[in-house]
Parts: sequence; structure tokens; C-alpha cells
Amino acid sequence: MHARAAVATTTALLGTAALLLPTSDVRAQDSARPTVIAHRGASAYAPENTLAAVDKADELGIGWVENDVQRTRDGELVVVHDDSLQRTTDVEEVFPGRAPWKVKDFTAAEIARLDAGSWFGPAYANARVPTLERYVARVDRHHQKLLLEIKNPELYPGIEGQTLKVLGNEGWLDRLHAKRLIVQSFSAASLRTVHQLKPAVKTGFLGTPAVADLPVYATFADQINPSHSSISAGYVSAVHAFTGPHGRPLEVFTWTVNSTATARRVAGHGVDGIITNKPDVVLKALRTA
Ligand code: G3P
Ligand code: CA
Repeated sequence: MHARAAVATTTALLGTAALLLPTSDVRAQDSARPTVIAHRGASAYAPENTLAAVDKADELGIGWVENDVQRTRDGELVVVHDDSLQRTTDVEEVFPGRAPWKVKDFTAAEIARLDAGSWFGPAYANARVPTLERYVARVDRHHQKLLLEIKNPELYPGIEGQTLKVLGNEGWLDRLHAKRLIVQSFSAASLRTVHQLKPAVKTGFLGTPAVADLPVYATFADQINPSHSSISAGYVSAVHAFTGPHGRPLEVFTWTVNSTATARRVAGHGVDGIITNKPDVVLKALRTA
């Protein structure tokens, strides 16, 4: 039986109790609009960009996670936000002589030794900086969707092709994953490269371009993803008026929204997605508005 049919049968048998099942097909966010995306995973509750943050998003019933991809000295793609390992790992203790501890200056084996969880809380002492492979495998295991940010692409020439290769190797460029993947970046050049290399992949530009410039962005980006503080209802409708490279209206996923009031404000503006460290708070805000 197909999973959704099984869920429908279970729901019929068990009534509303079935709605509490933490399954990937009955996610809390499925009925919520705008889409809720766990920023760096559920990063208010688990260390950002770790597998634990992906797991936490899944526990909360959140089907979309956002992450940040960069590259090690020996060419491995890893999931970490800052260009330095200092804030989110114990790199200062493990490699005291290596300031400023840039991701690009450490090998994958060195980064694998780091504790990426204790800074957040003792319960996460075993968390590691995940490789992109391990990260997407975990997202897949939860049947979640991925908003992947190519971070600091100017530091990593060729990272776009390499990221797409890893995604392809892990099965993320097949037809079944087409609606489960968006690649985003603050770099228009990087995004344009992604679009040229794999035109089928959905893309998002991070920023708030002038409306006059949107026709250019609409040639390679399916989304315009601005900071919540930079948008109005007028701006969101202006973005929606353009058609993206896949023949659909441009979408807006806004960030980083962590309060009830802001979630309701941006939902009122008509955004398509809300990127948040506290997906449970945003979900509740949308449901009780
Ligand atoms: O997804 C939007 C957001 O991640 C962009 O900012 O700095 O958190 O990567 P940052
Ligand atoms: Ca990001």
C-alpha cells in the first residue's frame, strides 16, 4: 500500500489520535502555509547544521531544513555556517596554533575530530560537523526536503559543480527529489552557475534586489529570499508578478523569523516560506492567527 493510503487508512481507524503520529507523511507543516523551513536545522533547540538539528526538525514535524555548505582544505564538502570553525566547534582547544581556524584551512579528517555540539549544550557533546554526504543521507532518511545554501562561494572555486555532483551521487537530482531540493546563495554568480550546470534544479537568491532588477534574477532564480526586515506586502507581490526559469511565479522564502508577531506579519505579506530557528513557534503562529 502507498504510504499516503496507509496513513489515510490508519487515520480512519484511529481517528484524530493518528494525527499525532510523527511520520514523514503526516508532518505538522503539511497543512501550514507558508512553508516552514528549519534554519540550519531546528537550530534554537540543537546545534546548528548538525545531524541532531535535522533530527530535531523531524521530531517537531518539520519537513524542510536549511543548511550551509563549504569546503575543506582537501576538497570535502561540509555543512557549517561560518567561514571559521571557531564559534561552533572546539577547534581552538584541539588546534590552538591554527587561528583564525578557517574551514578552508582544515582537512576533513581534522574537522571530523571536532566537537560541534558542546558549545550549544552538554547533551550534544558528540555532535560533529557533517559532511554533505552524511547530511543529505540523514535528510533523506527523514523524507525531509532541503534548502541548501552554497556559503561563501568566492572562497571555493567550483563548489557549485562539486555540490551538484555530491547531490547527484546521493540521488538528490533524480525526478523524485525534484520537489525536495532548492539551492540558494547570496551570490548571484554562484546561483547562475548552478542554473547553467543543472537547469532542472530549483534555485533561490538570498537578498532583496530592486524590483527593476528582478527580470534578470528571474532568468536563473525561482525564488527571491529576503530578510524579513526588508520586505513589505508590495515587494512580495512585485516578486510574485515575475515568472521564473521553470515557468512559475517567483516565490519568496523569508528569514530568519523567530517570533509569533513576525511570522504573522510576513504571512500577511503573502510569503511562500518562512525560514526559522524555531519552527514550532512559527507553525503555531500560523495556525492560531
Ligand atoms: O536561509 C537564509 C539564511 O540562512 C541566510 O542567512 O547567514 O543564516 O546563512 P545565514
Ligand atoms: Ca544559511
